[in-house]
Amino acid sequence: MIKIDILKTIKERRTIHSFKQQEVDQTLLKKIFTYGSYAPTHYMKEPWRIKIYQGKGKRDFVEAIIQSYQRMGMIKQNNDPKTEKMIASMTTFLLDIPHHALIYFELEDDPVRYEEEYAAVCAFIQNAQLAAWEFGVGMLWTITPYMHDKEFIKGIGLDETKVKIAAVMQIGYPEKIPRDKGRSPIEEKLEFILK
Ligand SMILES: Cc1cc2nc3c(=O)[nH]c(=O)nc-3n(C[C@H](O)[C@H](O)[C@H](O)COP(=O)(O)O)c2cc1C
Repeated sequence: MIKIDILKTIKERRTIHSFKQQEVDQTLLKKIFTYGSYAPTHYMKEPWRIKIYQGKGKRDFVEAIIQSYQRMGMIKQNNDPKTEKMIASMTTFLLDIPHHALIYFELEDDPVRYEEEYAAVCAFIQNAQLAAWEFGVGMLWTITPYMHDKEFIKGIGLDETKVKIAAVMQIGYPEKIPRDKGRSPIEEKLEFILK
């Protein structure tokens, strides 16, 4: 029996950078993203789409990431042992993460609609992060340069003219929970306009 306390969860959820070598059950992942889907969504568009890479399904995805970094010049394209070592360690690092959830949505030409869909997808992500925390599952929300690489998008089987990748969530059971960095007093950011 889980005790749900949303206010506590909002404050206690932490971004997780290191994960246990244990997969989250598919049923639980479905549950987590089902909670995500209760996010507000204009016209009930429910724009979020998710591809979860796990197990052997991570291999091509991780290779596509490395190739993208090479195209962008973040990793060299040569047979230098230093480059090979860097590729090997990055590959291991990414493969060790139990799940990578790529969150994307259909592009909209109208900028207002585009923002509505992107905003709804972000609300979906945060809902999912909070639900995950309730089940002891951690996430790291990432926005990385490869998400803008057309070759990468095509390489993973999506049409870059039709979809936008919003985020890649790294998911798993936390190995370590970082300390709470706290937040600035809201008074620093909030003003009441009374007249
Ligand atoms: C849109 C977005 C992108 C982020 N991208 C990264 C990232 O690429 N790498 C990273 O370490 N953290 C990333 N974060 C997580 C923030 O670093 C994290 O939320 C912040 O340090 C506060 O920590 P907390 O989530 O534990 O409260 C991202 C967060 C958001 C909302």
